Amino acid sequence: MIDRVLPSRLRRPVIGAPMAGGPTTPALIAAVGEAGGMGMIGSGYLDADATREEIARVRAVTGAPFGVNVFLLDPADSAAALAAAGGVAALDRYSAAIAPVADRLGIALAEAPAFTDFDQAATLAALVQDPVPVVSFTFGIPGAGVVRALQEVGSAVVVTVAGVGDARRAMEAGADWLSVQSAEAGGHRSTTTVAERPDEIGTVELVRAVRAALPDAQFVAAGGISTPADVAAVLAAGADGIQLGTVLLRTPEAGTSALHRAALADPRFTESRPTRCYTGRYARALVNGFVAEFDPLAPPAYPHLHILTGPMRGAASRAGDVEVPPLWAGSGWRESDAYAGRPAGEIVAELWDRGSRSATRARPSLPGSG
Ligand SMILES: Cc1cc2nc3c(=O)[nH]c(=O)nc-3n(C[C@H](O)[C@H](O)[C@H](O)COP(=O)(O)O)c2cc1C
Repeated sequence: MIDRVLPSRLRRPVIGAPMAGGPTTPALIAAVGEAGGMGMIGSGYLDADATREEIARVRAVTGAPFGVNVFLLDPADSAAALAAAGGVAALDRYSAAIAPVADRLGIALAEAPAFTDFDQAATLAALVQDPVPVVSFTFGIPGAGVVRALQEVGSAVVVTVAGVGDARRAMEAGADWLSVQSAEAGGHRSTTTVAERPDEIGTVELVRAVRAALPDAQFVAAGGISTPADVAAVLAAGADGIQLGTVLLRTPEAGTSALHRAALADPRFTESRPTRCYTGRYARALVNGFVAEFDPLAPPAYPHLHILTGPMRGAASRAGDVEVPPLWAGSGWRESDAYAGRPAGEIVAELWDRGSRSATRARPSLPGSG
């Protein structure tokens, strides 16, 4: 049997989060991998061809293992959430509400946004045809057949879960390991239905609950981890490793926009909050003018709102208008100031080495770890 990539087999069990939409670059993946962790391509918004190209770019710059993250979107689930919220009329109402923002930027909102799964089936077929070390899923739990097909070609299958129930279901489907993501995480929360309102559980509490429910599962903890003390706390609670997003956004290797980088350092922002207002699905961002005004109005229409607001978000970023675009940030964005501008490899090494040294482990190391 091929040895699949597990957190315990990494020199430093630190996952560089897949950050779709620009922040994750081949250079960031290479830097995290060469520091002994593992980076992930965020293929969520890429079609199969673009995913293949991104894989080739990563292979061209590093021999370290890496993963590809895939969004699992279910058309029936999206349709049910939208129907319950009032259907197309709810979309039209939201579109009318945010239209003045688009007008101000001199652009039109995308018209008649419809469901897309971003080429999910073709992307999975491409990953079976040309395997990568790890495939992770977000927004859903793959069927046992998909899990098996990926494992048969040597890929480890990871599922991003937001709670104990989904963690159990993912392990039952045959996942090799989990990314356990709390409400503190920057970007989207990986709940498995569009309609649900995610809970507000913190990372340490969630890690403890998942470890109690699944004593033998391997998992990394994600959400608000930006200091060695955070690392020590999640390891003590039972995690096998960590997944970092926000603290890597201001590394030189990341593709984060200048506007987003500046906002993360800007004292005018004092709060981050999960909101549906950009994509229709809850995602944690700094509270700027757009979030403050439109968070209460946004219907559970994913990925419709992602498509609707796309041109507006792009235009606002190009115009340098920080009050409109999504400024994704986990709860630890302020603490991550200490690492702003530092190379990703240094952050991975320092957070892991200092954090794991001071952690009192909740249980002995797994075989093969160390
Ligand atoms: C800008 C940004 C984009 C993200 N995009 C994705 C993604 O495409 N797929 C995914 O599984 N998680 C995504 N996440 C969530 C991360 O995988 C991870 O759970 C989160 O960053 C951890 O919390 P932290 O940001 O506080 O470190 C994203 C996070 C950020 C900040």
